[in-house]
Amino acid sequence: MFENISKTQSDALEDILKARRSVRAFSNIPPDKKAIEQIIRAGLIAPFASVPAKGKTDFRKIIVIPAGSSAMTKIETIIKAAFPKHFAEMKEKNAMASSFMKKLESGDITHLFGNAPYLIIAAERRGKGFPFTYETEQSISLSYCMYNMWLKATSLKIGFKLASIFVHLKLGNNREFCELLGIQCGEYAIDACAVGYPDDNYKLPQVNYPDYESNTTWL
Ligand SMILES: Cc1cc2nc3c(=O)[nH]c(=O)nc-3n(C[C@H](O)[C@H](O)[C@H](O)COP(=O)(O)O)c2cc1C
Repeated sequence: MFENISKTQSDALEDILKARRSVRAFSNIPPDKKAIEQIIRAGLIAPFASVPAKGKTDFRKIIVIPAGSSAMTKIETIIKAAFPKHFAEMKEKNAMASSFMKKLESGDITHLFGNAPYLIIAAERRGKGFPFTYETEQSISLSYCMYNMWLKATSLKIGFKLASIFVHLKLGNNREFCELLGIQCGEYAIDACAVGYPDDNYKLPQVNYPDYESNTTWL
């Protein structure tokens, strides 16, 4: 089954896994469309939950929004309009608001996508009529889709930043947003990421991942 996979390829994958980081500031030189297409193709072959996808061929959709496009302006307007309600709900639940959230509340969306040349939105069809325990499956599928795209982008030296605000604002239920994307409102869960070459001056923050020795237990 895995005859074609060599040790070199396995080692290369490990290098890419280690190189993968969040990039939050981008160069204004856009990657070419072929590279973006390769990233999207990686997302489309990510695993999916069979319940929402059953009998469907359109269970995952990808929409690319270039910076400076009229679609991007519309998306920014939709986010600005949807945010106050979300922020009010967070306050009601005493949820912690990051400095980023506070900026958004004041209507400042300049750093939302780190000036990335492309925003990639993924939409995954929701499972309907199944027990509530299946309700998260489309979101889990979206995470795999995002991660496939993240790893492919890394392999092409293209930076990637998740934009979870699309998840939190539940934009799959926002009519204006769904019309813009050309998807049926309420039928899809949404996630998004910003992609582009890292800004030359961008400095990666130090992140300490759990180490194997103290965080792995073999029973
Ligand atoms: C579920 C989830 C949501 C995330 N949402 C965002 C986000 O909206 N914006 C962002 O810049 N990073 C987001 N991240 C990235 C994490 O902040 C990041 O992976 C973590 O800080 C480790 O840094 P690294 O990706 O550079 O290794 C998210 C990560 C996960 C797993």
